[in-house]
Order: sequence, then structure tokens, then C-alpha cells
Amino acid sequence: MEDHTTPHSGTGAGDGAGSGSGPRPGRSAPISRKSVLKGALLAAPLPLLVGGAPALARTLRPSSAGEPLPLTPYCDDGDDPTPPQMEGPYFRPNSPRRTSLVDAGTQGTRLTVSGYVFGRSCRPLPDVLLDFWQADAGGAYDNTGYRFRGHQYTDSRGAFELTTIVPGLYPGRTRHIHVKAQAPGRPVLTTQLYFPGEPRNGTDAIFDPALLMNVRTVGSAKEATFDFVLDVSQTPPPTTPPPDGPGDTWRAGVGYRAGDRVEYGGASYTCLQAHLSQAGWEPPNTPALWRRA
Ligand SMILES: [Fe+2]
Repeated sequence: MEDHTTPHSGTGAGDGAGSGSGPRPGRSAPISRKSVLKGALLAAPLPLLVGGAPALARTLRPSSAGEPLPLTPYCDDGDDPTPPQMEGPYFRPNSPRRTSLVDAGTQGTRLTVSGYVFGRSCRPLPDVLLDFWQADAGGAYDNTGYRFRGHQYTDSRGAFELTTIVPGLYPGRTRHIHVKAQAPGRPVLTTQLYFPGEPRNGTDAIFDPALLMNVRTVGSAKEATFDFVLDVSQTPPPTTPPPDGPGDTWRAGVGYRAGDRVEYGGASYTCLQAHLSQAGWEPPNTPALWRRA
């Protein structure tokens, strides 16, 4: 069994590594939103198309004006990894493998946390162990059992989803969820995720805005997203050379650059942003990537 399948039976290489990382006011939380497009462009296969655009939930989240949020610029290499934070006193190894920490009788506001895990080259990482633990609605940790503790693995697209509740507050801390993330054979990243708009974010000594989730209210529940970037080096995927000029027929598996011209279905298209083309991303389906000439 690979070492990462035994969830952190030791202290983990990343434990406590962030003890010196206090608030970083100069940083906003650009990674999550930036990484949305990484998922849209790099996670294969594309699950479906809605309205002709890549259909990741977050790219389609309406703005206050009701319009889909604009796509962010194409991801470049060199994103900062997700910062580590202290483990705290309540981690327990050997949590159950499960994606839901709730049942019908669980008290608290339902919360889903979903996102992707990427490496340093912005490519999704499958089979990453994510071990979550948090307080219950009353702000208490289960230190004898495994309530609100569970681990899971990212899928082939580097995606994860956790079903839980909004954790309660306890003295001395702002609202947070603990997590350990570990790519196969790699060191453990121990960190914490935060909620925007919390009054205690401004007074919690270890709060880091780079670890803020995107959170929205859906009915009586909350939906949060967060994308991790692990310090895992990656080799860019092999691609066939881009076309030399107009007239080449669009193909999957090509690293197109902004400004490239292709033919598809009898029409000409101009590439709007660099991407690795995939089946399902034909120019008529992806107006964010191609404009009809
Ligand atoms: Fe905690």
C-alpha cells in the first residue's frame, strides 16, 4: 500500500510547517478563482457543455448582474503553492474514508466544499489524499471518535467534494476547517480553510486570506469552493505543434495560442486564449476560447 493511503499515521512532513506564517495582508485569495480556469482548460474529460461554454460550476456562477463570471486569464506556471498552517491540537489519524461527514440528524448549516488540487504547473493532481477535520456546530471537536473527520482522494480530474456543516466557533479562533493534503509519495501539506466575512478573521493571529474559500448561500445551505496548489513539480503535457497559420482544421490535443486561426465546420475561428484543445471543446462549443472570424 502506498504510504499516502495510510492517512498521516505519523506527524507528517508538513505538520507545523506553517507555524511561522501569520496573516499575510498583502495577499488576496487569487488562487481559487485563477485556478477555476485551470480546471476548465486542463481537467479532462470535459464533463459537459452548457450554453456553449465549459461547464464548471464556478465558471458559470452568476454575478450579481446575473451574467456568468468572465473567464480568468490562462494559467501560467509558477503559481504559489497553498500556504501551510499549524495542525492544532485536535488532529486524529486514521479518519474514515468518506466524502460526507453528515447524516440526517446532524445539527448545523449544511456546507459543501469542492474544488481541485493542482501541481506547480497548474495541472490537476489525481489521487491526492485530503483529510478533513473540523468542529461541530457547537464549536467542539470529537476527540474520542471521528465525528466531522474524514478523508478522501481527488478523482482523475483532480477534483474533490466534501459534504459537511459550517463549523462552529470556539474560543480564540475564527471559523475554519482543517485539512491535510498529500499527493502520492509527496510530503503532507497541513493547512486550514477560512470563511469570508467572519468578524474574527481580523483578530485571529494565524488567519491567512490566501486560504479563504469562495462561499455562497444556496437556500438554507452554503456552497464553498477552494483549489489547492501543491508544491509538486510537473512536466507540461506533450502537445502537437500549433498550426502555422489559417486554414488548418481544428484538432484535439493541440496547444493553441491566442491569435491562432483554424477552420472548423466550414468556418474560420480565431483563438482567444492559449489552451490545450480537447474533444468537446470544438470552436462552436467554446466561445471563451474561439471567436468566429
Ligand atoms: Fe481548529
